[in-house]
Amino acid sequence: MYQNILTETENGVLTITINRESKLNALNILTLQEIKSAVLDVQEKAEIRGIILTGAGAKAFAAGADISEFANFSVEQGTKMSADGHSVMNAIEQSKKPVIAAVNGFALGGGCELAMACHFRLASENAKFGQPEVNLGVPPGYGGTQRLVQLIGKGKALQMLLTADAIGAHEALEYGLVSEVLPMEDLIPRCIEVLNKLKTKSPLAIAAVISCVNDCFAEGKNGFETEINAFGHAFGTIDFKEGTDAFLNKRKPNY
Ligand code: COA
Repeated sequence: MYQNILTETENGVLTITINRESKLNALNILTLQEIKSAVLDVQEKAEIRGIILTGAGAKAFAAGADISEFANFSVEQGTKMSADGHSVMNAIEQSKKPVIAAVNGFALGGGCELAMACHFRLASENAKFGQPEVNLGVPPGYGGTQRLVQLIGKGKALQMLLTADAIGAHEALEYGLVSEVLPMEDLIPRCIEVLNKLKTKSPLAIAAVISCVNDCFAEGKNGFETEINAFGHAFGTIDFKEGTDAFLNKRKPNY
C-alpha cells in the first residue's frame, strides 16, 4: 500500500517506519505524504490507541528533506513544498492518537522537524538532532523555526538554527527536546510500554489534552478558553461516566 514507509499494527499501536535506509530515511515528498496518510487513516479507528514513528535501521530517524529532490525547485515549488510539509506536521501534531517519535539516529532538518511535530520524543543514545538548513541556503521549512523555539526556548533554538551544529541525545535531553534517552534495543519497547500505559487512560481525555496543549501555541487561539470548553464537554462523555464511576466504586476504569 505504501512505497516508502512500513506500517504495522499490534495491540492497538500503529508503528510507522520510514523505510529509505540507504538514503538515511531522507524525507522525499511521497514519504511525507505517506506518513500523513498513515496518521490520518487511524484517527477514527477506536482500536488504535497510539502511534510510534521511527526510521529503518540503526543510523537515522530521518536525515532531512530529500536534497536531491528539491535541489532544482523554483520559488513556487519551494513554497508549495513547505506548505505541504507544514500540513503533514500539523496532521501529526493534531492527531487525536498520541504520536511518539522513536528517534533512532540522525534527526536532521526535516527529520528533526518531523520528530518535533510528534507529541513527545524518546531517543536512542546515538540520536543526533540538528537544523543544518543554513548550510544549504534555506531556513527550515517544515516548522523548525517555530517548534524548536517552543520546545527549547529562543536562545538555544537560535544557536542551533544559526550554527547548524547538531546536538547529541544527552544534550537534547538536557534541553528538553527529548524526554528520555535509551539504549537502542530498549527504544521501541519503551515506546510500547509508554503507549500501553496511555491505553489505560481515557482516549477522549487524551485527545482533549492534545488539543488544549496545541492551542497554547496556535495562532488566534486561546488555550485557556479551549481548556474550559474541553473540560465542560468532557462531562457529557462516556469516558467521564466510566472514570468517575470507577473511582467511586474503587475499581480500575475500563477504556
Ligand atoms: N537528502 C538526500 N539524500 C540524503 C540525505 C538528504 N537529506 N541525507 C543523506 N542522504 C543520502 C546520501 O546522499 C547518501 O546517498 P548515496 O549513498 O546514494 O550517496 C546516503 O544517504 C548516505 O549518506 P552519507 O552522507 O553517505 O552518510 P554519512 O554517514 O557519511 O553522513 C550525514 C551522514 C547525516 C551527516 C549526511 O548524510 C548529511 O549531512 N546529510 C544531509 C543532512 C542535511 O543537511 N539535512 C537537512 C536537509 S534540509
